[in-house]
Amino acid sequence: MGSKAFAANDAEWCFHGGELQKLGEVRLSPATHALNYGTGVFEGIRAYWSDERGTLQVLKLREHYERFEKSCRMLRIDLPHTIDELCDITLEILKRNGPREDTYIRPLAYKGATSVGVNLLGESQLSIFTVPMGNYVELTGLKCCVSSWRRTPDTSIPARGKLTGSYINTALAVDEAHRAGYDDAIFLTQDGHVSEASAANIFLVRKGQLITPPVTADILEGITRDAVMELAEKEMEIPVIERDVDRTELYAADEVFLSGTGFQIAPVVAVDGREIGTGSIGPVAERLQELYFKAARGGWDEYAGWTVAVEVAEGARQ
Ligand SMILES: Cc1ncc(COP(=O)(O)O)c(C=O)c1O
Repeated sequence: MGSKAFAANDAEWCFHGGELQKLGEVRLSPATHALNYGTGVFEGIRAYWSDERGTLQVLKLREHYERFEKSCRMLRIDLPHTIDELCDITLEILKRNGPREDTYIRPLAYKGATSVGVNLLGESQLSIFTVPMGNYVELTGLKCCVSSWRRTPDTSIPARGKLTGSYINTALAVDEAHRAGYDDAIFLTQDGHVSEASAANIFLVRKGQLITPPVTADILEGITRDAVMELAEKEMEIPVIERDVDRTELYAADEVFLSGTGFQIAPVVAVDGREIGTGSIGPVAERLQELYFKAARGGWDEYAGWTVAVEVAEGARQ
C-alpha cells in the first residue's frame, strides 16, 4: 500500500562538489544551510530501460532542468552549469553507473553555507545522484483521502518551485494518509479547491472532458501533466480544461487519476472512502497509461523528442 522508497547505493557514481565521485565518498557538513533550513531545490527525472535496444531512455531531460533553473531562481541559487551541461553531466553519470533497469535521477541544488543564520545569501552547491526505481505506486488503482493538511500557498512557500523545504507539507500529508490506511493524499488549496496529490498532479474525467486544476492552484507545474494534456488532445481528441475543481467533484467524477514522474499515470479508484466511477481503472486513464509508456519508453517515433537514449552495454558499470 502507498508509495515505496528506493535506496541509493554508496558504490554508484554521483556528481558533487564539481566532480564525479562515488556517493559513499561524499562529505557534507551537518551545518549545511539547506539541511538546517530546507533551502534547496530538486528535480526527479526518470530513465526507462529498454531490453530490446539496450538503452536507457531519459524522459524529458531538458524540461526538468528548465524547471530546475526556475526553482533555483526562486531561492537565489546560482547554478554553476548551463542546462546543456547539466544534461551532459546526467548522461555521464548514467553511462558510468550503467543501470540496466528503470532509474530515477535526482538533481539537487542548495545553499551550502556552513554558518548559522536564515537568509538566501551564500554559496550554492549542486549534487546529482541516481537510484533504481520501479513503480513508485501501484498503477491499478489508488485509494486516496483529501488531506487535513492544506497545500502551502504561493504567498508562503511556493509550490511552483520544487523546493526541498516545502516537502514537509507533503510528508505530513503522506504520513497522515498512510496511517489512516490510504495510498495517497490529495491537497486542497487554502480556499478549499483541489490542488494536487502528494507528489503528482490530478486529473478528473467528467462528461467526456479532462479537467485539471490550473497552475494558480498551488501546484507544481508538472511535466507529466503537460505530457498527459498533449496525449489527450492529440491522440484521443479529448478536450482538456484547466479550471478550479471543488472537492465533491472528485466524488462525482467518472474517473480520477494522478500524473507525475514518480507516480507515472496512476488511476484513483476511491476518494475519502467513496468509489470513483466503477471503482476500477477507467478507460481514459487506461488508454493514457498505454500511450504514455509507449512514448516515455522510447518506442514511438512521433514522440522521439521526449527522450534521450543512453547506450548501456552489459557489465558497463565502472
Ligand atoms: C508536488 C508535486 N506535484 C506534481 C508533481 C509531478 O510533476 P512531474 O510530472 O514534473 O514529475 C510532483 C513530482 O515531481 C510533485 O512533487
